[in-house]
Amino acid sequence: MTMTHSKRFIVQAGGQLRGEHRVPGDKSISHRSIMLGALAEGTTHVSGFLEGEDTLATLAAFQAMGVKITRPSLEAVTIEGVGLHGLKAPAQALYLGNSGTSMRLMSGILAGQSFSVEMTGDPSLSRRPMKRVTVPLAQMGAKIDTAENGTPPLKIHAGQGLQGIDYTMPIASAQVKSCLLLAGLYAKGMTCITEPAPTRDHTERMLRGFGYPIQQAGDKVCLQGGGRLQATDIEVPADISSAAFFMVGASIAAGSDIILKHVGINPTRIGVLNILRLMGAKITLLNEREIGGEPVADIRVQASPLKGIRIPVDQVPLAIDEFPAIFIAAACAEGETILTDAEELRVKESDRIQVMADGLLKLGISAQPTPDGIVIKGGQLQGGIIDSHGDHRIAMSFTIAGLRANGTIEIEDCANVATSFPTFIQLAQTAGIQVQEQEA
Ligand code: S3P
Repeated sequence: MTMTHSKRFIVQAGGQLRGEHRVPGDKSISHRSIMLGALAEGTTHVSGFLEGEDTLATLAAFQAMGVKITRPSLEAVTIEGVGLHGLKAPAQALYLGNSGTSMRLMSGILAGQSFSVEMTGDPSLSRRPMKRVTVPLAQMGAKIDTAENGTPPLKIHAGQGLQGIDYTMPIASAQVKSCLLLAGLYAKGMTCITEPAPTRDHTERMLRGFGYPIQQAGDKVCLQGGGRLQATDIEVPADISSAAFFMVGASIAAGSDIILKHVGINPTRIGVLNILRLMGAKITLLNEREIGGEPVADIRVQASPLKGIRIPVDQVPLAIDEFPAIFIAAACAEGETILTDAEELRVKESDRIQVMADGLLKLGISAQPTPDGIVIKGGQLQGGIIDSHGDHRIAMSFTIAGLRANGTIEIEDCANVATSFPTFIQLAQTAGIQVQEQEA
């Protein structure tokens, strides 16, 4: 179990970011590589795998269901696929730590199994809404028990025999879309999902990579159940969500010039790049290429003065995990930044609107939360003590803020940075941030 209160970051004011760095592998793609590799026929080799607590929770869950998964090195994973019908009942409940992606995507897979299984998580995951997946899965024929308010633990009952559905998602969520596509592999007939706005399409791309036919037309994606997945090799690019902290850091810290290597720039993930450019950031994409069905580039970011903007609503799902970092950019920009249509931020690992507003206020920045967003007025960041509420992206965002603060920032409750970016502190130090980690 994660010790959520065991670490604190101390960030000295000032500094600049320099050099060439590679952040760890993409979290979304790493999760999916384990899931599809496990369900495929044959051996899948993954390189660039994110060795974070969230993705390791997925890996351990499939091991617990009888899949042989080995780690020839830290970032390499070999998965002996068992085929769509080869998973075995785990001996106990699957504990998924902090990872919403594991629980939501796996609920689609587990709804199609001939055994019952329970999934549990840490206190943060245990507060997160699961009806968004259990309601459409029930429409497909699954029987899933949740806690009273639709939160974990999830108990999925054996052998319900799924039927395909034609489902229009009320919210833009790649996790829901992916969950239903994975359930669709086990369903009779066609499963179709229509999304209200484009969300990350790694599941669709990877299913194709495993030789599974997918039909896509506009905002609708469909697959026919009953096919097979053929093992393949996967090279995971560096995670743009982790790169985002350094993109913001280099933009706000005078004299910075940094290159982030081999970053995934899938069009459904580059909201942060688009938003920072609209704010005046100087970002250049170098060496653009495609690797294993995913576009990749080296990203050069040079410091440049930022201005406040109204964030275009179509960018919100494309930058959904990067808003804590973008809020730091807004705090350093001239004028007001206005975010709307982003109520989803309230149900992430923490309520990211409230927690960021509280933190920014502590550092002397005017940050006004609204039901679906925030209004931030740029100003001078002060030092202060921040509670990250055990949310990895809040902790990393306030670390970056130190580059422009005029006093020391102390961030509490940082252990969960290891869920997505276990090497963050070392990389931040190497790049030019004066940060120390302490046991709290
Ligand atoms: C993810 C989708 C996003 C994102 C999460 C990972 C995924 O969630 O916030 O960190 O891997 O599919 P939603 O699609 O629910 O917004």
